[in-house]
Amino acid sequence: MFRAVKSVLRFRRFERNSALRRLNKAANIEDLRKICMRRLPAGVFGYIDGAAEDERTVQRNTAVFSQVTFKPRVLRDVANINLSTDVLGVPVSFPFIISPTGFTRIAHPLGEIAVARSAAENHIPFTLSTMATRSIEEIAALANPAFQDEPSRVSSSARNWFQVYVWKDRGLLKELLDRAKDAHFEAIMITVDTAVLGRRERDVRKGFTLPPKVGVDTIFDGMKHPAWTWGLLRNDPIRFANVVGSGTEDGSTAITLADHVNAQFDQSLSWKDIEWFRDVWDGPIVLKGIQTVEDAKIAATQEIDAIALSNHGGRQLDDAPAPLELIEPVIQSVNGEIEVYCDGGIRRGSDIVKAMALGATACMAGRPTFYGLGAAGQRGVGWALDFLQDGMARTMALLGVRDVKDLGREHINWE
Ligand SMILES: Cc1cc2nc3c(=O)[nH]c(=O)nc-3n(C[C@H](O)[C@H](O)[C@H](O)COP(=O)(O)O)c2cc1C
Repeated sequence: MFRAVKSVLRFRRFERNSALRRLNKAANIEDLRKICMRRLPAGVFGYIDGAAEDERTVQRNTAVFSQVTFKPRVLRDVANINLSTDVLGVPVSFPFIISPTGFTRIAHPLGEIAVARSAAENHIPFTLSTMATRSIEEIAALANPAFQDEPSRVSSSARNWFQVYVWKDRGLLKELLDRAKDAHFEAIMITVDTAVLGRRERDVRKGFTLPPKVGVDTIFDGMKHPAWTWGLLRNDPIRFANVVGSGTEDGSTAITLADHVNAQFDQSLSWKDIEWFRDVWDGPIVLKGIQTVEDAKIAATQEIDAIALSNHGGRQLDDAPAPLELIEPVIQSVNGEIEVYCDGGIRRGSDIVKAMALGATACMAGRPTFYGLGAAGQRGVGWALDFLQDGMARTMALLGVRDVKDLGREHINWE
């Protein structure tokens, strides 16, 4: 018994040290991405990294930031930089929200637990996907020390949001919303850009399913990535944790994402359905996936609180506009009625500064923390958040702006 405990402790120490060694070699999110790519089987990495069709949108989301240049001012006393602002009326340590990602345990056994914990430690909101591999209740329990397998600074002030894919079965959806309410989730985020699934050709090529099917390819890939395979084998099977036992597709049999979406999601969703959400959810509502000024204007007339300008990280409609391009015209058209988040392409703190200078309330990202999780578990997620936050503070110091609330159009050039 004593020997077994000793080996577990030794194994944990080994895991921690090797995660630290990997992170010491990373200088930016692109480095995290490369570490993640080396550690995960190709099909799994393709699910995270990939996007729709020719993947032009995902590239554009990031590339467009290089078109914005700064107008740095000097001799401005930048000894103290303040990144803190409000999101949905509650302070955040920096203007950042973790975007929802489905099937997160595919990168690391802790999955959404690691991401939610890091978000809470950093005093920013975490969004749990409908297709999460940890349940609403598991995320809510994070404030409970008994649940934690390592020391954590997560407090009961954790801000959890629940992302909603609108299923045909409204009864089941209502049950989920009731559970989110009971678990003190602060807001819901309705994703409106997924009437059908975008064609993600890396997944098509690999025949990628959730969970991955065991075949010659996956066994061979698994042998090449022993740490990942060991993590998968020694933990509970990965499931759509919010619907286990509900009689709906819960991931216990391999299914392609496209088949899952086409079977479950309501293609007839329209603006009038937003009223249904207003009736059943009395907290803040965020609409995720707004991609035009016209739709932003309609959104501002609804009883909602915020929109996320988003093309799903380029995973839905290829050649959709980049969120950054939309911020300024959208801000001008919604007259301050709702908060506006920029979701997609954020890879540096300086990207957040640019989006804020254009008028965004906050930024969101999915892949940076997912890469961190795949590269080094919870430490990798924390690394990604620290990197973005430090980058923001450094950029503002070099730009001569002390307070994030003072960022404006005068600090950037963009034709
Ligand atoms: C692996 C992966 C899974 C995702 N799953 C979801 C999801 O379940 N629900 C959702 O609304 N968006 C999902 N998204 C989109 C993200 O919420 C977000 O819009 C996108 O990642 C932003 O782009 P970025 O990765 O460049 O930050 C997912 C994105 C990735 C990369």
